[in-house]
Amino acid sequence: MAIILQVEDIVEDKTAIMQAANAIKSGKTVIFPTETVYGLGANALDEKAAEKIYRAKGRPSDNPLIVHISDLDMLEELVEDVNDQAKKLMELFWPGPLTIVLNKSEKIPYSVTGGLDTVGIRMPSDKIARALIKEAGVPVAAPSANLSGKPSITDVEHALREMSDRVDMILISESSEIGLESTVIDATGEELVILRPGKIGKNTLKKYFKNVKIDKGLTSKEVAPKSPGMKYTHYSPNAKVYISEDIRKIRSMEENFYNDGKKVRVLCEEDYVEVFREGLSLGKNIEEIARNLFTALRQADDDKIEIIICQYFHGGDLADAVMNRLLKAGELI
Ligand code: TXA
Ligand code: MG
Repeated sequence: MAIILQVEDIVEDKTAIMQAANAIKSGKTVIFPTETVYGLGANALDEKAAEKIYRAKGRPSDNPLIVHISDLDMLEELVEDVNDQAKKLMELFWPGPLTIVLNKSEKIPYSVTGGLDTVGIRMPSDKIARALIKEAGVPVAAPSANLSGKPSITDVEHALREMSDRVDMILISESSEIGLESTVIDATGEELVILRPGKIGKNTLKKYFKNVKIDKGLTSKEVAPKSPGMKYTHYSPNAKVYISEDIRKIRSMEENFYNDGKKVRVLCEEDYVEVFREGLSLGKNIEEIARNLFTALRQADDDKIEIIICQYFHGGDLADAVMNRLLKAGELI
């Protein structure tokens, strides 16, 4: 069973952070909060520790881990050929929800990168995450803290239930502020290629860079995604998930499923909740919707929901990221 520690404040809970840092240093696995989703971390320079992460999650070994750093001093020995665009990305968006894929140095084991010569690096803005990494003094490899294929974990309650007997330590803290995983961007070439959409998306990046592309594999069924993680069925709750732009269609589908005796739930923005028989509000705006999405998908499982119908959300980078996750979980109708 995992050791469970409460961490709310980096000064008041210094002892707990030190304990977690020591666990990382000695090759153990620790679930910790970040501003995006909870991470399942271990020493990124320790091959055996990295293997524990794959085992804990039941994750395919060709799916690379993101390496988290606390400050730029840590970066130098981990990567090679950092070009000006990559540096500008770091200046603009670190610390924050952006993972930058760069050529890896020899120090990073192939078990961390799933055999790739590149590595995804992120400097989280969450204070607890950064204090933990700094105290550990080593870069921390951390995928999302969920079992492979399940929605990411944004409230620690689900980490306790799903992962307690699979990791060495869990830090209990607040719910994740953003609620969706970081943007993953390939900065090894002349173009910046978005491999996984997130809060920092194409609209934001285009303000600063001329040559931003979205990986073709994200939108086309014929091309394999460059980010190995995007090819797996992901973010799936047990319920069958449908997504639609048409509120009237959602209403009539809901009625049909209900009449067939199915346990159905409609996930929508607050303004529409009264329209449905079993409507559940994800929030008033896209920030709230992003923050609540994964918990709502997991809650549906807890409530033994059989059918989820979700509204299609438009408008900006965060909406695009929400839709990227939802369309992987379900079917557009
Ligand atoms: O917000 C986040 O990024 C969270 C928190 C914990 O930081 N972490 C996270 O990790 O979402 P994970 O492992 O669940 O997702 C990492 C994604 C996967 O799709 C993986 O394939 C991709 O990033 N990735 C990692 N390294 C890569 C690389 N070198 N090249 C291409 N894709 C990479
Ligand atoms: Mg994940």
